[in-house]
Amino acid sequence: MPILILYASYTGYTQEAATLLWQNLCGRFPHREFILLNVREADKKEVKKYSLIIFGASTWDDGLNPETKLFLEKLQSANLSGSRFALFGLGDRQFLVFCAALPIIEAQLKKQGATVLSPVFTFDNYQTGQDISKFIEWAELFLDAAELGHNTGQNL
Ligand SMILES: Cc1cc2nc3c(=O)[nH]c(=O)nc-3n(C[C@H](O)[C@H](O)[C@H](O)COP(=O)(O)O)c2cc1C
Repeated sequence: MPILILYASYTGYTQEAATLLWQNLCGRFPHREFILLNVREADKKEVKKYSLIIFGASTWDDGLNPETKLFLEKLQSANLSGSRFALFGLGDRQFLVFCAALPIIEAQLKKQGATVLSPVFTFDNYQTGQDISKFIEWAELFLDAAELGHNTGQNL
């Protein structure tokens, strides 16, 4: 079963982090299929094809960035009871509410029947070229949980 890496990015940083994650997972798990998708190209039919979705979004002005807003609107009437989401967020602690988009996204997905896995992963002031090894480790937790990758004994 392919895994969807979905992202909603306003100025490109979430796209960059999602792309690096995708490249890394493709390299480490060549027997698995990972699909990278911008929310602009995604609709509810596409999202419902996957049982595990790693979804990243940045926060703007204490809430959703415009890309995320449009995407959640498109998704609104979907029954997501078969979908599990692992969420990651990009934000900056200099702003009033750090990664405020994540609880908003989580609430909507749950309202639509999805399972939102924990923990979420956050980047504070993400910079191009920074070490993303913790991010990769975080994503791998869900491969194990979904019984899609190797078993390292992690139990979520
Ligand atoms: C105008 C503006 C508003 C922002 N508001 C927030 C905020 O409320 N909370 C937060 O955690 N980060 C905030 N950020 C930081 C962004 O989420 C961060 O720069 C992120 O890396 C952008 O990712 P993107 O390029 O994928 O959109 C803001 C950044 C800007 C420029």
